[in-house]
Parts: sequence; structure tokens; C-alpha cells
Amino acid sequence: MESSLPSTQILDSGESAERKNEAKNYSEVMSTLPKVKGLRGNDFYLYQRFWYAPFSLEGLMSVQEHFNPQSTDIFLASFPKTGTTWLKALTFAILTRSRLSGSTTSSLLTKMPHDCVLFLEFQLAQNPGNRDSAIPLISTHVPYSCLPKSIISSSCKIIYICRDAKDSFVSLWYFVAKLQRSNNVEPLPLEEVFELFCNGIANYGPYWDHVLGYWRASLEFPEKILFLTYEEMMKDTAAHATKLAEFMGCSFTLEEEEEGEVQKIISMCSFEKLSNLEVNKNGKRRLDTSIPIQNSIYFRRGKRGDWENHLTPEMGARLDDIMEQKLKGSGLKLPR
Ligand code: A3P
Repeated sequence: MESSLPSTQILDSGESAERKNEAKNYSEVMSTLPKVKGLRGNDFYLYQRFWYAPFSLEGLMSVQEHFNPQSTDIFLASFPKTGTTWLKALTFAILTRSRLSGSTTSSLLTKMPHDCVLFLEFQLAQNPGNRDSAIPLISTHVPYSCLPKSIISSSCKIIYICRDAKDSFVSLWYFVAKLQRSNNVEPLPLEEVFELFCNGIANYGPYWDHVLGYWRASLEFPEKILFLTYEEMMKDTAAHATKLAEFMGCSFTLEEEEEGEVQKIISMCSFEKLSNLEVNKNGKRRLDTSIPIQNSIYFRRGKRGDWENHLTPEMGARLDDIMEQKLKGSGLKLPR
């Protein structure tokens, strides 16, 4: 069995022979794993109890083997399409606010949030030197149980965000469908992708196990892992910005609060502001080294409850039932 996205395809031509060898080894490991037909016509591989698209899995295997965090690193963890971009913007803006008039914060206005906070298993797996070590933020979609041991055993903090499964699914479908269209691939029908999702099959899925992994870890290590939901963050963004600042060890001072600093950051990171910036309207970036992506794809509606416009009530009820069953006994109830 061969990976449907050959590793050589995701490497720049200039990359070292060592790196190519390593990628070849990962492809060999992948060829031994159970697989199913995935969303982009590519296969998903079952690795350590989660499903992965090839480019995510190669990156994961690489960081599991090589990655070492700095002790001050803070990881932003999420399942795709649950609010990662927003969380990146907020944490980046909060952490760099003392340089508000300097270049770091303005970089959020000229660089998209995913280029301000890099992904562990994409950009950092390809080149650990990619990171700006002055910014201690790294993001990842990797499930808690699959994180590199060097992260789990470190004192690094983790901020996890999740979202109602129905809205996450709809957001994911639109994201993947747009990617496919931009690659001249006809997207799979929503119903087919929904069926896969309900069976736990999505990149980094099952969704419920992803959420539960971080939820349980946050109960065990509350000082280390902050568990958030998109919906609660929407309901009271100011309280969450304050909580994020406290958790990251850079609480807002009374003076900052009086000067409206919290509100300034919230406005700068709002869907309306970010989605209308030139860089996010017309810029492009690469998720891995093979696929250029329009930055605008990360900003769709930014609302809760949009699933109602795309799923039937029966589909909604089915996913709610699955989530309820899976989360039963965990003490977690996700907002709907
Ligand atoms: P919708 O597709 O429902 O609009 P991720 O960042 O994890 O990829 O998640 C993408 C979702 O977050 C999309 O949801 C997107 O519109 C929304 N989003 C992006 N930026 C946001 C922001 N600043 N505030 C609120 N939601 C945002």
C-alpha cells in the first residue's frame, strides 16, 4: 500500500537527503497502517488511534521523533475548524501587546495569524528553525495522546479550543471543498463527508476523542492545560482575553484595563477586522509545501449555529446524539 501523497511531493527540491530519507521511512511506516479513503481523494491512516491525512501524519511522526520545546513554549491545540485562527490572533496580540506600537503587533495586521503562530506538525516539522524563538507560541492539531513525549513531560502550557461538532463539521466541509475546487478536484458531497465524520473519520479524528483527550488532561493538570470553547469565547470575549492573559503569565494591569487595552485587542482580532485585512482577503499561504491556500479560506462566517443552514435537523440530531454518547460520564458538555 502506497501513500497517495508521496512524501517527495511535499518536500522542497533544496531539502537535504537526510530529510528525504526520513520522509521515505515515514512512508514505509504509513504503508503498514490501516487506511480508508479520505476527504480529498487521499487516504486517511489510522495511527495511534487517530486518523490522519498523509501530510499531517508525516509531520507528526517527525516531531514525535525530533521536536524539543523551549520551557517557556505555550501550545495552542485544536481540532481543525474549531477556532484556531482566532485563538492564534488573540494569544499573539495579548503576548506581544507591550510592543503595540512596534513591529510585532503590527505583524498581525500584515501577516495572517497562521504565519504569526506556526504549526508544529507542518512548518516546524519541515524546519524547526522556522520559528521566532522570541514568540513562545506554537499551534498544533495533534491529539493530546499523540503529542511528542517531550511536550507532555515538559512544563509547557497548553491552550485547547473546541467547538460544537455540527458547526465544526460544516466549517470543515466548506474548507475542504474550497481547497478541492482550487485544486480542480470535485468536492465529495456534504452527506458523504458527514457519514465519514460521524464514523470518526476526519484528519485528526475522531472529533470526540480529540476533545476528550484534552478535556481529561485539563482536569488532571489544570494549571498546565486551559480548556476553552469557541461558543463561550464568543459569548464573553473580554473575560476570555483576561483569562488567556492570566494563564499565559501576562495579566493585564489595572492601567491597561482602564486604558481599554483588552477591548483594543478584541477588536483587532475580531472576525470583521481580520477578515477585511488585505493580507487575509487576498494573500496566499501554504499548509504544507504542496498546496497554496487563499488566506480568505480561514474566514468564512465566524458565527455559531451556522450548521442549521447546511445540515438537516436529522443530521444535527444524529451528531448531537453521537457527541452525547461519546462524552457521557466525562463531565464535559459542549455548548450547542
Ligand atoms: P466558520 O467556517 O464557521 O465561519 P480554524 O481557525 O480552526 O480553522 O476555524 C475556522 C473557523 O473560525 C471558521 O468558522 C472561521 O470563519 C472562524 N474564524 C476565523 N477567524 C475568526 C475570528 N477572528 N473570530 C471568530 N471566528 C473566526
